[in-house]
Amino acid sequence: MAGRFSGRVAVVTGAGRGIGFEIARLMGREGAKIVVNDLGGASSGGGGDSSIAQQAVDQLKADGVEAVAETSSADSFENGARIVQAALDAFGRVDIVMNNAGIARPGGIDEMTEEDLDLTLAVNLKGYAGTIHAAAPHFMAQRSGVIVNMSSPSGFGHRQNTAYSAAKEAVVGLSRSVARDLGPYGVRCNVVRPMAGGSRMATPRMYETLAESAKLGIPPLWNRWPSADGFAAGPEQVAAVAVWLCSDAAAAANGREFFIVGQELGILPEPELQRTSFAPEGWTLERLLRPEVGAYVLGAAQNRFAGPVS
Ligand SMILES: NC(=O)c1ccc[n+]([C@@H]2O[C@H](COP(=O)([O-])OP(=O)(O)OC[C@H]3O[C@@H](n4cnc5c(N)ncnc54)[C@H](O)[C@@H]3O)[C@@H](O)[C@H]2O)c1
Repeated sequence: MAGRFSGRVAVVTGAGRGIGFEIARLMGREGAKIVVNDLGGASSGGGGDSSIAQQAVDQLKADGVEAVAETSSADSFENGARIVQAALDAFGRVDIVMNNAGIARPGGIDEMTEEDLDLTLAVNLKGYAGTIHAAAPHFMAQRSGVIVNMSSPSGFGHRQNTAYSAAKEAVVGLSRSVARDLGPYGVRCNVVRPMAGGSRMATPRMYETLAESAKLGIPPLWNRWPSADGFAAGPEQVAAVAVWLCSDAAAAANGREFFIVGQELGILPEPELQRTSFAPEGWTLERLLRPEVGAYVLGAAQNRFAGPVS
């Protein structure tokens, strides 16, 4: 098994703990040299403990992995450039960008503050764009590179976790476009939507929001609410999927989404139209109000979220 990533250099954001650390460990065991980025922050954002990244590096080194610590907050273009530069400084190249740093500030749209949204978007979206933007010229010049971005099933729609949901779904659009931007240069960019127990993001509040949603009869996350073992896969299983997507075995995947929930691994379909109607003379309200037009299209819709609130 060893050596699948020999000679490659990977930047892993949020690699001090949880899924990111397991990604760094697995990729390192397979021969990659690793930049462990981690600010050592709280799972709701902010804070900072630079020892977290160093502790992870110490553990990796004890495992025979070449690794360096980088403690910038992965939330801006400036810091994205710093993180990628750390790979160039330490190892002379960059081959893999694993955007994994994440924070969540649970709350519905009525509770969300502007700061909640700004901070959540900064770490879960802007930071991802920042590292990719910094690595892109190197990937384009060397005609190779792999990017994996950590999204979430929350992006499908997550009652009372609105800022996080918005940020994680934005990651999907970012990834689909980056796949198109850099694909011609031999670069791939994919998305993982995990659920993992045993890491800090799987907070009691996360479970509560999902349970409360279900109680109201509102599908939590998506149509196929995962079985009770949704959080049963540990961080190391999510890491296996993320690392697999960086390997040459996954060369066919670009701009696609994968989910790993409990025992189930899946690939999401590309967006599709569910029902269509055509208006050769153009769209008017009158035309839409015709049952064979508007009602036909609306037949595919169903307001499943209009539960009673007492
Ligand atoms: N655990 C789950 O069930 C789950 C579900 C869906 C998505 N995810 C996503 O997976 C990723 C990893 O989550 P986890 O469960 O391992 O969480 P975690 O909190 O255990 O680890 C995240 C790491 O990111 C670091 N971090 C936070 N903000 C940072 C910043 N600005 N810059 C650099 N590092 C920062 C933290 O210090 C932490 O070490 C996140 O993007 C998360 O949104 C997790």
